[in-house]
Amino acid sequence: MRIFREPAKLQRWAKMRRLAGAKIALVPTMGYLHEGHLSLIARAKAAGAEEIVVSVFVNPVQFGPGEDYEKYPRDEKADLAKCRAAGATAVFFPTPQNMYREGHSVYVVEEDLSRGLCGARRPGHFRGVATVVAKLFNLVRPDVAVFGQKDYQQAQIIRRMVRDLNFDIKIIVAPIVRESSGLARSSRNTYLSETERLRAVAISRALASVAAGRSVAAERRRIVRMLEQAALKVDYVEMVDAETLRPVKKLAKGVAVLLAVYDGKTRLIDNRVLH
Ligand code: PAF
Repeated sequence: MRIFREPAKLQRWAKMRRLAGAKIALVPTMGYLHEGHLSLIARAKAAGAEEIVVSVFVNPVQFGPGEDYEKYPRDEKADLAKCRAAGATAVFFPTPQNMYREGHSVYVVEEDLSRGLCGARRPGHFRGVATVVAKLFNLVRPDVAVFGQKDYQQAQIIRRMVRDLNFDIKIIVAPIVRESSGLARSSRNTYLSETERLRAVAISRALASVAAGRSVAAERRRIVRMLEQAALKVDYVEMVDAETLRPVKKLAKGVAVLLAVYDGKTRLIDNRVLH
């Protein structure tokens, strides 16, 4: 497994592999890898990629002031071991300085899907995500890139970016991987105390209880109540069209239920698409 720290070296190697005819997959992550990330690597393998590049980069540009950029968990040694065991063929560990050279002034802004939900609560977040993902796409020029459904809005924004900026990349969105309690796997789960973990079980239970056919307003109130009864502070619960992310009037197939809550100081997101 190759380890790259310099963007230019990764770019040179990826170009060589592409010219040699290798199918390349990219799995962008912020590290502190867990089962969810490993499922993305497995998905890349299943897509027939000969080179699987995992990027590990806590991207400062997608964190707002007062968010957890500094304390975001990092463990390079463990991430390397997990990537190797999962079958990654290359890992990219850039530094903020070599990803964003002094004077960096170009960003990618998606102007529709980013407006609501997490975009409304975390101004600039998706601008940071789209920018770093576009940079990674240009460095690796993968055939496929794999993202997790847990970050539902992010995945939709990346699909839109690929469409609108003509990236020749197939986007795969892999299902959410959950702990046995139902809690969606996230590097941020490491912030949770035992009590907070117990409370967090209400999130997946609430999502699982949503049923098609009911009134959106009544169902939303019921979900909020369930979450609040578990002592979670609701940031938002929204029922939206799974493609456009616009609010819907009826709960039916193709509706995504997206939510964000605070469990103590930790902000957790989760979602479910009604089938
Ligand atoms: O989902 C994440 O871990 C990040 O937002 C991503 C896509 C790696 C960009 O930094």
